[in-house]
Amino acid sequence: MKLLVTGGCGFIGSNFIHHILETRADLQVVNLDSLTYAGNLENLKEVEADPRYEFVKGDIAGADFVYALFERQSPPFDVVVNFAAETHVDRSIHSADEFIRTNVVGTNVLLKTAMSFETQRFVQVSTDEVYGSLGSTGRFTEMTNLAPNSPYSASKTAADLLVRAYFKTHGLPGIITRCSNNYGPYQFPEKLIPLFISNILEEKEVPVYGDGMQVRDWIYVGDHNRAVEAVIDKGVPGEVYNIGGETEMTNISLTRLLLEKLGKTKKLIKYVKDRPGHDRRYAIDCSKIRKELGWEPAVSFEKGIQRTINWYESNREWWSNIRSGQYLEYYKKQYGDR
Ligand code: NAD
Ligand code: DAU
Repeated sequence: MKLLVTGGCGFIGSNFIHHILETRADLQVVNLDSLTYAGNLENLKEVEADPRYEFVKGDIAGADFVYALFERQSPPFDVVVNFAAETHVDRSIHSADEFIRTNVVGTNVLLKTAMSFETQRFVQVSTDEVYGSLGSTGRFTEMTNLAPNSPYSASKTAADLLVRAYFKTHGLPGIITRCSNNYGPYQFPEKLIPLFISNILEEKEVPVYGDGMQVRDWIYVGDHNRAVEAVIDKGVPGEVYNIGGETEMTNISLTRLLLEKLGKTKKLIKYVKDRPGHDRRYAIDCSKIRKELGWEPAVSFEKGIQRTINWYESNREWWSNIRSGQYLEYYKKQYGDR
């Protein structure tokens, strides 16, 4: 089976490529990534020489480029897994332009090209944020109305609707996954967990938005990726699958836990101005994928967060290089100017 993985140099995509190459001898992977600030070739340096793996630098919104990439494949791609996206909510508040270009236009280019080449399966990696915000009770199911609140989640919702429309109108075998908040190795230190761990390791303050009582449902990245794999193997075209770790936590209790595990005091907590339009609570009902595809999360939050803390402690160079901008040098060395 030959996979086109987009956005494979980011957090979840690079973990996915490591997982799939380690566990599936039958798979070949082409990684298409434009290397935005969030794409880091260092995440995949261990697999660079693997003959089953190829990296292609390119933009999913570049229609001619994407068409030419599909055209030169022999054998053709069997599956497209679209991880590529602009992903940080705070950046989308600052400017939505790149979010529309990559998340909406880029997804349309991939769908249109996959249709032309009769690709057998198109997996759209989406997010629980398309459902909006919950009150203190209830959970998102696949039937929950779409009600995105940030430019990021609005762009992901638009992409989901395009996947649905290509399935209904053109019969393109698209499947959508909607996952909750991931954590684990290689997550860019702008998101809560890696930002707070690296700040705490450097004895810097951690900025908690608003009252810190917002709730997120955390899942270890490897569990998300096993779910994506199950969808590639057994998912039904036209369907949506929610994925979650069933671990709800307020931001402030997560912050206290990280401080405690790293042996630092609450003095590092700094309450700052809230994120505009901040969703109060996410919680995922993932009973459909459990029942229909036999997937379940395997890594408890306790184990996963300890593993993640250990990873950031022993890979200080990885995140220090990002903070200093040094990580861009790795690409330059391999491929010349970015
Ligand atoms: P990330 O920001 O770490 O990585 C995104 C990757 O996409 C980067 O390598 C970047 O270079 C690449 N990219 C961006 N624009 C591109 C373009 N135009 N063409 C080609 N490549 C491009 O993101 P992530 O956290 O790994 O998220 C991956 C996917 O999973 C996204 O679609 C996101 O919406 C979804 N998701 C993320 C989470 C989470 O908690 N991080 C949860 C649910 C769903
Ligand atoms: O739910 C899935 C989504 O999870 C993905 O679709 C997004 O791509 C991913 O970025 C993530 O979105 P969030 O906005 O939930 O993640 P973030 O790490 O930015 O924030 C988590 C919570 O922590 C949120 O309530 C905002 C808060 N926060 C975040 C940062 C970066 C803070 O209090 N302080 C911070 O500095």
